[in-house]
Amino acid sequence: MTTPLIERFRDRLPVSGATPVVSLGEGSTPLLAAPRLSERLGLEVWLKWEASNPTGSYKDRGMTVAVSKAVEEGARAVVCASTGNTAASAAAYGARAGLPVLVLQPKGAVAGGKLAQTRMLGATLLEVRGSFDEALAAARELADRGTHALVNSLNPYRREGQKTAVFEIVEELGGAPDAFCIPYGGGGNTSAYAQALRELGLGTRLVSAEAQKRPETVASAIRIAEPAHAAAVAASGAEVVAVSDEEILDAWRELAAVEGLFCEPSSAAGLAALRRGVVEGGRVVVTITGHGLKDPATAAAHAPPPVEVDADPDAIARAAG
Ligand code: F0G
Repeated sequence: MTTPLIERFRDRLPVSGATPVVSLGEGSTPLLAAPRLSERLGLEVWLKWEASNPTGSYKDRGMTVAVSKAVEEGARAVVCASTGNTAASAAAYGARAGLPVLVLQPKGAVAGGKLAQTRMLGATLLEVRGSFDEALAAARELADRGTHALVNSLNPYRREGQKTAVFEIVEELGGAPDAFCIPYGGGGNTSAYAQALRELGLGTRLVSAEAQKRPETVASAIRIAEPAHAAAVAASGAEVVAVSDEEILDAWRELAAVEGLFCEPSSAAGLAALRRGVVEGGRVVVTITGHGLKDPATAAAHAPPPVEVDADPDAIARAAG
């Protein structure tokens, strides 16, 4: 049986015997050596494959804690604003807990796989005429009224859960790497990683990669104009690197082509920063935050199309080159 994240890290999470554990088998994700990327970049690169979480993104680490605590504290419903992954995760853990989930998404700005997940998992999905930031402001107001518990990463239980990725990495490597590289959207995950490093007493470099054109990046998961955790990120000592959409897409394709990992574009932002040379040597862990199947339309727009052929071996051999 997969050990729930809350059980694995119980002593380092704000839970007690009275906390009902709402789990889908999250965490304990693969840490993969990346020999070809390492050779190309002149570094020892490791990939933390967070897409193998139950809903296909790292959000599940935080959501298991946030929803478990919401149930413990007697919440009647939960709400989140989301660019898609938080929504799918909240919908899944809410369904598991029997809690109604209200999702506010910027209309027309969420990738198809995430929309399908959230709808299928039975959340009430409202498409807000506005940006993610406006949807988040509305979600916070609803939470303030007391009808819903907020499960965005402003909820500290989310960050508590997300910090466990760093614990896993350090445990598996037998020590800290020289640097961590992660994407930076709202900054909740950067804050969570920084918290883990503080708790471990480590001063490891944390490189946080944001999209240069935040409000309109191709990486829809991190299309956030005003990061809610900007102040915490600034205070955390993380190094913020702004990468272009072209750099994100190049890193995204390279990860698939040379290491066999198909992630969503936002998830390649950390690698994009690394490919710039922000880390000069040593051992680096790049967190790949979400699965490529989340955003099939962007993949279809950037990958070679299939070639149509008759079911004839000669024609197939010719077409295969
Ligand atoms: N990677 C993925 C796949 C994401 O979905 C997100 C954020 C991030 C990175 C950035 O993390 O916001 O903690 O800095 N997704 C949120 C959502 C905004 O609603 O799913 P962050």
